Amino acid sequence: MCGIVGYTGNSQAAPILLHGLSKLEYRGYDSAGMAVRDGEKNTEIIKAKGRLKVLAEKTNDGESVPGTCGIGHTRWATHGEPSEINAHPHMSDDGNVVAVHNGIIENYQELKDKLIRKGYEFYSSTDTEVAVKLVDYYYKKYLGTPVDAINHAMVRIRGSYALAIMFRDYPGEIYVARKDSPMILGVEEGASYIASDVPAILKYTRNVYYIGNMEMARVQKGNITFYNLDGDEIQKEKKTIEWDAEAAEKAGFEHFMMKEIHEQPKAVRDTLNSVLKDGAIDLSEVGLTDEDIQKISQIYIVACGSAYHVGMAAQYVIEDLARIPVRVELASEFRYRNPILDPNGLVIIVSQSGETADSLAALRESKKHGLRTLGIVNVVGSSIAREADNVFYTLAGPEISVATTKAYSTQLIAAYALAIQFGKVRGELNEEKYQELITELQTIPDKISKILEDDKERIQWFAAKQANAKDAFFIGRGIDYAISMEGSLKMKEVSYVHTEAYAAGELKHGTISLIEDGTLVIGILTQNHLYEKTISNMVECKSRGAYLMGLTTFGHYNIEDTADFTVYIPKTDEHFATSLAVIPLQLLGYYVSVAKGLDVDKPRNLAKSVTVE
Ligand code: F6R
Repeated sequence: MCGIVGYTGNSQAAPILLHGLSKLEYRGYDSAGMAVRDGEKNTEIIKAKGRLKVLAEKTNDGESVPGTCGIGHTRWATHGEPSEINAHPHMSDDGNVVAVHNGIIENYQELKDKLIRKGYEFYSSTDTEVAVKLVDYYYKKYLGTPVDAINHAMVRIRGSYALAIMFRDYPGEIYVARKDSPMILGVEEGASYIASDVPAILKYTRNVYYIGNMEMARVQKGNITFYNLDGDEIQKEKKTIEWDAEAAEKAGFEHFMMKEIHEQPKAVRDTLNSVLKDGAIDLSEVGLTDEDIQKISQIYIVACGSAYHVGMAAQYVIEDLARIPVRVELASEFRYRNPILDPNGLVIIVSQSGETADSLAALRESKKHGLRTLGIVNVVGSSIAREADNVFYTLAGPEISVATTKAYSTQLIAAYALAIQFGKVRGELNEEKYQELITELQTIPDKISKILEDDKERIQWFAAKQANAKDAFFIGRGIDYAISMEGSLKMKEVSYVHTEAYAAGELKHGTISLIEDGTLVIGILTQNHLYEKTISNMVECKSRGAYLMGLTTFGHYNIEDTADFTVYIPKTDEHFATSLAVIPLQLLGYYVSVAKGLDVDKPRNLAKSVTVE
């Protein structure tokens, strides 16, 4: 998830690009760059590692790069570590094509191999450089127009992209192509703009066009022409943006947390697609061979907070599907407890930021014991990603809200993919079961979307009623216990309601004495074989005065005999239930916080990345 800006007109481009990029920094911020062209002169490319201010300093706030046409980019690495060389824009060997890109090119290795055979050389490890050179290849091969070259490339590229491209033969023009990554185009008298998101251009224009999937555009000063994949011109309706600047940054949502909750279907799909090849899971980019997988005698999952809760859910899934023993440990405990570790064990460190001090220390401790380490990490080039022997990158994009939602959901997907592949390689899953699980996993993004469509209003209503709650208990068994832990943390951290997660069978060993008249108890019941057991525990709470919410799958309607408020989620394979059940619980925490008028995105006393012990 990166940010793109482009401008062509009569003003100096660089300051406009820098302003636009500053409004997109929330989309990614490990490096930035721009390409600016002064009339027919050569395009100048300037890049900088780090936040945008480094690029601004390097260009004297854009003044040292003259020219009235340009493209800019702020990067959130998905392929290749954050560095100046990997920063965008990228260009073809002779400078014929220069481009910036947002998205993920899934078949970039295959395309790169083809281009190397055709004599192209590569200086970066990005998938973007592959796209640039592919466009250059088709431009030269067919001696056609930029639109011809781009549509040939689009047919070959698998994955998602928003591309902004400048061609040496077409000064003052920018070409745009889009599939599944956002891109808007703005137009005023004598000036045109492009951007990944509205805030980048709102200062200059409110007149925009939305480019569709698999469409292209030719952007000239004050004039934009759209094309379909056949290269035929198509008409688009101009729209007016009504949002104010702050709302625009959050894509119209009131808070980043809600925006990120809604980004989960895409984040989950992208993460899954990154390891799916021809209908099977392929861990070659993660660096795990079948032989490595065969050797694993024990798995240790080590993490903090929500990432630890991913480990709790993963434990059930991996043990059940792959029959490998799993221990889940809090990184802050693991690092100091002088652990006895199996030398053939695999240590999996789960971390969104890749910088959490305790998780990093646990990684180093594991390496000291000679164990192989695998990071499930969101931030490319972060310390954990650099130091782990292997990395499974989640593709959640930058997460701004302190309370994690979409990163957590992508971590779960990574864990499922490992469990399924480990199960297959170790002979625990036959081909039919393997395919069945993968097919079901692919339905998860749409099921998350369905929950978001159907349940928001009811949960908002329920949350408003619970805004004065002092305590809440989340209970479940097995995977439902792992879900309870995350639901409880989500609610307490953003709404300041005291919550606890309990294994449902454990209540009667102490906690049940806390249940009074009206205490909120949320029962989670996604596991068929445990359904009746958890119902019994809910009834025990009810008979002591608890007010009950039940979260279960469609079909279990007899929950209504027990619970006062019910939420149903779509059916899925029970191993993946966490991915669906967590969505209403994220919404519940969010809406209680909103009802109490709290700072949802920045809860008191918390930081996004905990780099101290
Ligand atoms: C809770 C939350 C935290 C993080 C934890 C680990 O919403 O975000 O509990 O999960 O601080 O952070 P990472 O994943 O960056 O290691």
